[in-house]
Amino acid sequence: MTIYLNGQFMPVEEARISVLDRGFIFGDGVYEVIPAYSRKAFRLPEHLRRLQHSLDGIQLANPHSDSEWTRIIEQLIALHTSDDQYLYLHITRGAAERDHAFPNPPVAPTVFVMSKPLKTPDPALLESGIACITAPDNRWLRCDIKAISLLPNVLLRQLAITAGCAETILIRDDAFMTEGAASNIFVVKNSILLAPPKDHLMLPGITYDVILEIAAANHIPHEVRRISKAEVFAADELLLTSSTKEVLPITRLDGQPVGNGKPGVMFAKMHTLYQNFKLDVMRAK
Ligand code: PDD
Repeated sequence: MTIYLNGQFMPVEEARISVLDRGFIFGDGVYEVIPAYSRKAFRLPEHLRRLQHSLDGIQLANPHSDSEWTRIIEQLIALHTSDDQYLYLHITRGAAERDHAFPNPPVAPTVFVMSKPLKTPDPALLESGIACITAPDNRWLRCDIKAISLLPNVLLRQLAITAGCAETILIRDDAFMTEGAASNIFVVKNSILLAPPKDHLMLPGITYDVILEIAAANHIPHEVRRISKAEVFAADELLLTSSTKEVLPITRLDGQPVGNGKPGVMFAKMHTLYQNFKLDVMRAK
């Protein structure tokens, strides 16, 4: 596997970073996950805009212009055999003596990009749906930054795995839903698609945006607003979205069926529309 590290393409086995890297020591960095279909990066300008938002959020200068990022991503895609891939971009504040304060003067950031084959969800999962649990959202108050310090998300996701489930849906202040440990969550009630607002308590998902755009374009009733914990448990359907999972139906929550326990009409509609959108965008380029 060839990766990109600090200006060079190299086999992953040869890639080296300092043990003093602030990503390693403090989790001081940000990342992006970008799907590529038929060797074309999906929604690249939107992903690069979110990356800039994350970098601004941690006061780290962007090491590359959008055209430089595009070139690195295109080169890495060309070096790999799968037609569908996902790119992982990772930028840290670089290596410096251990001190919580930023290095002064600043040091060179560490820039790492890798590509992995993208496997879209198994069709069996689309038929059965996935099981999720809920847990208190005990993360910080800047969940809009795609930070590499993911320990809370790691622990929250592991709660689901330990319970034999796929994802943990997060409830803030015992009151309202924010998102999944590594995904966004939509609620369907009375044929209306409900989405939580993009604020500092959730990651502004690129797939989330696509879903809302598709809903608007196809006159599917939708509302963006706070969704109470009670509404999550009373949902007719729950949908999970992310760049690597696309759209998945959640059919069990905390051991109980969601709605009638089967993937619903809204899921079927959104999944088909999402697949069509993907194909259209990729053909249009
Ligand atoms: N995670 N919320 C969180 C906390 C996430 O980690 C992710 C994605 C999303 C969905 O965002 P998008 O639609 O842009 O993928 C929401 C990625 C896939 C990851 O960390 O691997």
